[in-house]
Amino acid sequence: MEKRSVNVGIIGFGTVGSGTAKILLRKQNELRHKLGFPVVLRNIADVDVKKDRGIKLSKDVLINDAHRILNNPEIDIVVELIGGIHPAKEFILQAIKNGKHVVTANKALLATDGQEIFKAARKHCVDIGFEASVAGSIPIIKIIRESLVGNKIQSIYGIINGTSNYILTKMTEEGVDFTSALKEAQALGYAEADPTFDIEGIDSAHKLTILASLSFGIPFSFKKIYTEGITKITPLDIQFASEFGYKIKLLAIAKQAGNDVEIRVHPTMLSKGHLIAKVDGVFNAIYIEGDAAGSQLYYGRGAGEMPTGSAVVSDIMDIAGNIIKTQGTVASGDPPRREHRTQTKNWIQDTGCRIKKMEDIQTCYYLRFSALDKPGVLSKISGILGSYNISIKSMIQKGRKIQKAVPVVMMTHEAKEKDFVLALKEIDRLSIVSGKTVYLRVEGGELI
Ligand code: HSE
Repeated sequence: MEKRSVNVGIIGFGTVGSGTAKILLRKQNELRHKLGFPVVLRNIADVDVKKDRGIKLSKDVLINDAHRILNNPEIDIVVELIGGIHPAKEFILQAIKNGKHVVTANKALLATDGQEIFKAARKHCVDIGFEASVAGSIPIIKIIRESLVGNKIQSIYGIINGTSNYILTKMTEEGVDFTSALKEAQALGYAEADPTFDIEGIDSAHKLTILASLSFGIPFSFKKIYTEGITKITPLDIQFASEFGYKIKLLAIAKQAGNDVEIRVHPTMLSKGHLIAKVDGVFNAIYIEGDAAGSQLYYGRGAGEMPTGSAVVSDIMDIAGNIIKTQGTVASGDPPRREHRTQTKNWIQDTGCRIKKMEDIQTCYYLRFSALDKPGVLSKISGILGSYNISIKSMIQKGRKIQKAVPVVMMTHEAKEKDFVLALKEIDRLSIVSGKTVYLRVEGGELI
């Protein structure tokens, strides 16, 4: 019997599941026309089958048991949209074992267990689509894997968490503190009730792990990535950054540095003139530099029902196209044949490239001390910086108080992180310095 349709089962009827279902159902005619075959949404499984998701489903589509999708021989593509590690991982591995192609938006799972999942997919000759795992609607996975395949990627960095970008934008535009901006993000539904992953940089690090693996051939290694969130950013530092000509953004950065790759997530000062510094609100943007293509910038919505659903549907359509090409005459329900090579095979090859230790990176820094305003204070601080080979580029001191400390702000030339950390320790021990020195890394080279 010839295959007459590509059958899809979605596990997880939350925000992204609903968006995906809406696109598949509302655009079914256009999708069929483009593919030449119908893509049929056979089932959606969720523990809650009562909640109104704003979409009408035919009878028997919505079920409460994911195993009915995983074990249904007629389903070709399993779409995992429940997120988290368990039971998402078990569902995906079961789907792969049953010869089903998988589409997932699960960045946390891929960042931690991607190696195991891709190995299983290779073994069973099935595809894994994960476009929706990074930057929502921006097709960055496809760009790296397909459009820039002829390039050696030199750097990829950007804003890949909309929630933290919204918070920083609010703080910058309205001068409010972190807590108020977070509360507003929560009220608007941008931040989860537990916003830890977004504000601590963990969500960005999950996504960066995936981008770095694809771009540099580094096995998924979330735990090795330096991760720092935005919880300590203050309106005062945003204001000083602005006076120096910078904005503060939570950047996810992966770049070639000699034989190694720097991979890090942290609040970063970017020159106001940099295109990424102009990306505000919940938007995402990714800058990528390839040796042949040069620099490119991608901008768009990184979250939400329809933007993320758009990315999921793009994977479903790609895989459906492959199924039609390779299994067009295979009876529905047959697992993919071994000779049908899948894209999964060569995406993430270990190139032997390693992650540079954080202490070895070199960058420029912004520092804010609270120091007594009296003779000799600056020479002491600059003396310590100098003894660690750190050269000061510019400085601002605000106010004048005889007893109490005043903020002294400095920008440095490029320095080694290891030296910088040691110098800070020494400075923070000085009796003329009160409290812990605040610092931020600056990207974009020696711009001022
Ligand atoms: N929580 C993410 C963000 C969206 O704020 O960008 C899903 O990846």
